[in-house]
Amino acid sequence: MPVLSLPGIVDAHVHLREPGATHKEDAYSGTISALAGGVIALLDMPNTTPPTVDGVALRLKRSLFEAKAVSDYGLFLGYVGGSLEPLTQLAGEVVGLKLYLDATYGDLVLSDPRTLARVFEAWPGPGPIAVHAEGRSIGTALDLARRYDRRLHVCHVPHPDDLLRIDAARQRGARVTCEVTPHHLFLAAEDAARLGAYGVMKPPLVPQAEVQRFWERLDLVDLIASDHAPHTRAEKESAAPPPGVPGLETTLPLLLWAVDQGRLSLERLIELTYHNPLRVYGLAPPPDSGIEVSMAEPYRLPETGYRTRCGWSPFAGHSALGRVTRVRLRGRTAWEEGALRVAPGYGQPLERAGG
Ligand code: NCD
Ligand code: ZN
Ligand code: ZN
Ligand code: ZN
Repeated sequence: MPVLSLPGIVDAHVHLREPGATHKEDAYSGTISALAGGVIALLDMPNTTPPTVDGVALRLKRSLFEAKAVSDYGLFLGYVGGSLEPLTQLAGEVVGLKLYLDATYGDLVLSDPRTLARVFEAWPGPGPIAVHAEGRSIGTALDLARRYDRRLHVCHVPHPDDLLRIDAARQRGARVTCEVTPHHLFLAAEDAARLGAYGVMKPPLVPQAEVQRFWERLDLVDLIASDHAPHTRAEKESAAPPPGVPGLETTLPLLLWAVDQGRLSLERLIELTYHNPLRVYGLAPPPDSGIEVSMAEPYRLPETGYRTRCGWSPFAGHSALGRVTRVRLRGRTAWEEGALRVAPGYGQPLERAGG
């Protein structure tokens, strides 16, 4: 069977729910899910409980990852209001600042324009300001990035028209990068009825015609990130299902299938899932690492058998290609033939590039 060697995926948008909601996922189950999907490193979002918005919460999360992670990782800082001091004090210890300009899962929404301006002004870098922004908020973020000359990263771009707005801001000199998720590339609003709550996420799925436009303007996209956002089946089947879908284990087989279909090149896949995430966040790749993928015939993604604690996938039944057979991480086989080969805590924080 042909075996494909790849550098592995660096997934720049992941929610591991550690601490505070470990019944959905934790730093152990989540990084196992990562390795199973060929993800050698991931960046964890701050909308946990407590939210990662100060030194105490950051140290708590870091100690849990140090003890439990089996893939490499970086941590985001968030901001909810109050003192701006954590931003300047902790900027050097995190991969970036994540701001939520619109409501989503968690309570980190920050929509007051004056507070937002103060936060953009205060953020020293070196990591970018990453935003959850939909509709008009994208314009707000682009304006602030230009006014304060801050590096901006637009997470899970909601609509192909937004790619054009981001591109226009770039032409005017804004330093802005962006990401698209696999669910916005491989699922459409037409799938929503079939998926029910399992197809509910923020930003929502777009109609098939718009999905097509995402693919046509993939040249404007810097990176593809899963926005792995696990919730249990019980939560999804409740009266008020939370938004979010898991994705660590499905990004690679979906994209390899798309390569097989002639929708993008293998080189471009590697740019979007490895080189560019590292470049956008200014991170060094884990040395002596890579993955092996067994490439037989296309297959359909299964209903069950995932390593993520939530145990389901919105992509079940979707065409896919390639199975991760081995993950090498910093000189050791971390994952092989479906089995974990390293102990909890083997995962390390990503280091800054050239530092
Ligand atoms: C995410 C979550 O569950 O944490 N949900 C989602 O629908 N994308 C939050 C987010 O990324 O907005
Ligand atoms: Zn979001
Ligand atoms: Zn997210
Ligand atoms: Zn490159």
